[in-house]
Parts: sequence; structure tokens; C-alpha cells
Amino acid sequence: MVEPIIWENGVLKLLDQRILPHEKRYVECNTAENVANAIKDMVVRGAPAIGVTAAFGVVLGLKEGKNIDEIYSLLLNTRPTAVNLKWALDKMKAAYEYAEGNIDFVEESAVKLFERDIEYNRMIGKSGLQVIKDGDNILTHCNAGALATAGYGTALGVLRAAKEAGLNIHVYVDETRPYLQGARLTAFELMEEGISCTLICDNMPGFLMKQKKIDKIIVGADRIAKNGDTANKIGTYQLAVLAYFHDIPLYIAAPISTFDFSIECGDDIVIEHRNPDEVRKVGDKLIAPENVNVYNPAFDVTPANLISGFITEFGVFNSVDEILNKIND
Ligand code: MRU
Repeated sequence: MVEPIIWENGVLKLLDQRILPHEKRYVECNTAENVANAIKDMVVRGAPAIGVTAAFGVVLGLKEGKNIDEIYSLLLNTRPTAVNLKWALDKMKAAYEYAEGNIDFVEESAVKLFERDIEYNRMIGKSGLQVIKDGDNILTHCNAGALATAGYGTALGVLRAAKEAGLNIHVYVDETRPYLQGARLTAFELMEEGISCTLICDNMPGFLMKQKKIDKIIVGADRIAKNGDTANKIGTYQLAVLAYFHDIPLYIAAPISTFDFSIECGDDIVIEHRNPDEVRKVGDKLIAPENVNVYNPAFDVTPANLISGFITEFGVFNSVDEILNKIND
């Protein structure tokens, strides 16, 4: 399986996702600033992956002799939407305070966070088997795979688990304009894994649904509010509306670290807006008038009532209330 994040002898190596699938090259980070830039520049992306990366960024910053609060805000101010980033930074700050600044302890905590992410993703995969049937055609959007996590993936973790369980599935992959995480990353991961897949453009799912080519949709998430409203890659909301119209279930696969119990609903989620050139260009090639006005939100919010279930490490739930009851049990 592809390894997006490697921590080796005190150096963080990030698989450069900007140049996948054509080149596999690691970017080395030796400082907290290197890590912050790697998150901002999308060397690494995907909600759990940026959380785990930031955790190692804290270790590097402490080794440089930086102040914990300075490191915390440097890393937090990289990307605004995925809550896993703040979740991981809070965990690292708590570890630092608990160990009274012992860097070895903080490093062990970062490694644990990394290992647990993979473990929880495998549990998400197992939970997801409850909703998959042999012969299913499944649509996914963006990349919620090994590349978006410490490994194994969330939505793609469910697909991996289905394959491991011997189920025969086929995956439709939205290309996911403008950054093309589907075309570049998800198609690559599924092919490496030997999972049957077909790449489609973002304007094709409605027609496929009408033709009954899609049995269910499984995507990841960047932040889930207390009422279940879910921020994920731009385009997820329109899939949810189409799925509702065609009576197709849409599932969100995400670890508990993606739930933000501090916000009531999706209106409170900050949506990142990105460089207009991502829309004007495909790769380096300009495909629109150079100075055309562009609107480029990186995420949208799907209201809870369009979501059939949340696939988590604790099982599949219909609502966030059910999850809270389970956690507080
Ligand atoms: O802008 P990105 O590539 O970081 O966006 C990623 C997504 O929207 C993923 O679907 C989400 O983070 C879930 S990853 C398990």
C-alpha cells in the first residue's frame, strides 16, 4: 500500500501528492515551517493526513527550540476546513503539557497518533462491510484513500475491506475538478490495489444514476458538525442532491477525529477558498481567458438529511446523536 507519511530518524518524509501519479517522490521536512508549507502547498492533503503530518510538525518545531504556542498557530493556520488538523494539534499540545515539555514523549504521542489513524481506518473498513453488497457499483468523490490518511483510507478503506472480504465491487471515480484528486490519486490508488474502477468527469454522475449504474456513494469528510452536516470536497453536495432524487444512499466514512462536536451545524464551518488559477488551468495549461473571474471554494457542506449513514471506527450510525450515545456509553 502507498505510504504518504514516513517518520524516519527524526525526519518527516511526505509523498509529494502534487506530482502523483506520474512521479513518486518524497519531500523531506526538517522544521515546523517545512511542514506548514507542505500542508499549505498540498504536498500532503486529506483531513486525517494533514492532522498526522501536523503532529510530526509539532515534534520538529520543539526540536528546533520553538515555543509550543507558536508551533500550534503556525500549523493551525495552514488550511481552515479539516478539523482533524486542530484535533491533532490539541492532542500534541496536551501531550507536551502532560510530559512537561519532554520531547521524546511528544514524539511517541505523534507516532501513536499515526499508528492509531491506520488502525481506525481498518476498523472503518470493517464497519463499512455492513453497507456493501457483492456486485455493488460504488461512486466516490475526491480522494479519501491511503493518501488522505496515515494509510488504508476511510472511504477507500471501506472499498479495500470489501475487496479483502472477497466481495466483487466496481468503483466509479469522479475526477474532482479543479484539483483532480479523483483522477490523479483515487484512480491511481484503486488501480495499484487491483480494485476495478472507471474514471468519470464531475458532470457525469447524474446520467449514471439515471441509468442505474450506481448503487451507493461513499465519500470521506473534512468536518462533521454536531447535527451531521458534513463538509467535504466541493461537488459532494450536488452528488447528495442527485442521490436523493434517484433514491441512492450516500454514506460518509470518517473517524471520530473528523467530528466537530463544538459546532452546531454546517453554517459554522469555514470553507477554504483557493487560488483561481486552479480553475483557469489544468496542471500548468491555461484553459480559460487568463484573467477571467473565478470562484473556487475547495469544499461544500452536505446537509445531514441527505446523508444515509456515518461509517466510523465504532460502527455505522444514522445520526451524530447515535454516535455520541455510543461514545458516552
Ligand atoms: O483539498 P483536499 O484534497 O485536502 O480535500 C480532501 C477531501 O475533501 C477528502 O474527501 C477528505 O479530507 C476526507 S480524507 C479521508
